[in-house]
Amino acid sequence: MVLVLIIVCVLSTILSSLSSEVTNTKHLPQAIIIGVKKCGTRALLKFLSVHPAIAASSTEIHFFDSPKHFPLGLDWYRNQMPIADTKQHVTIEKTPHYFVDKRTPKRLARLLPDVKLILILRDPIIRAISDYVQIKNRHESYPTFDNFVSMENFTKWTPIRIGCYAIYLRRWLKYFPLEQIHFVDGENLIHRPWEELESVQRFLNVSNHIREEDFYFNMEKRGFPCIRQPNGCLGSSKGRQHPTISGQTREKLKHLYSNCNLQLKQLAQIDFPWL
Ligand code: A3P
Repeated sequence: MVLVLIIVCVLSTILSSLSSEVTNTKHLPQAIIIGVKKCGTRALLKFLSVHPAIAASSTEIHFFDSPKHFPLGLDWYRNQMPIADTKQHVTIEKTPHYFVDKRTPKRLARLLPDVKLILILRDPIIRAISDYVQIKNRHESYPTFDNFVSMENFTKWTPIRIGCYAIYLRRWLKYFPLEQIHFVDGENLIHRPWEELESVQRFLNVSNHIREEDFYFNMEKRGFPCIRQPNGCLGSSKGRQHPTISGQTREKLKHLYSNCNLQLKQLAQIDFPWL
């Protein structure tokens, strides 16, 4: 009797490990959040990760944009993906640097031509301040934001340059049709995240699982939305306090971005309220 029990136990362990090998596998991504840095890429991925049909990578992979990773090939890339169970038919990663990296669009189009691309954009002035705050956090002696913008060649400064989204989008559109790119309004993701999630879920062809009642606004976190899950708010590196900028700086940036925003509207065929 004991022998029979032992055999049953051993057999069931072997069977369950075999079946988990079959059901829990890593897949190349069906969708990638390609950017833009500081526009809410982490929040979007966190919210999507609660969907039962989505397996979301917890780290930024940096495959297509990295001289170190790219030569390791697609097997390496697949191996960095989260384990997906049978219900999770969409694997997704986010690497915001892809958007501005010159090599990525061509490489991605060659290796994953059908991948769905998600691009989250926000008011470029707020994005620039957010980028600045992140740098300032690491380098205390960094000049003020107003100081930077008062410099002659301020348009070359990376936090400012990235906000002219049309420059980069044009490159992507050489390799991907517009229908393969979904645009998320990063400002609306802060105020009415469920609206953005609804259209992202539709784009990914998954059920409308993440809804308004799944969110709450955390006043201790500058009023940013959190998802009703354990650790449903983003960590301290997101939602940082922003400095006030002068009226002169704001006008200068408005002027700089007005043409970029116009080009973006035409290229992407979007009309977000801040554009
Ligand atoms: P700040 O920290 O400057 O406010 P990314 O994840 O792409 O780096 O973007 C970070 C920005 O996402 C944050 O910049 C914040 O403004 C924004 N954000 C959007 N939704 C958020 C949320 N639910 N919680 C925290 N930050 C959020």
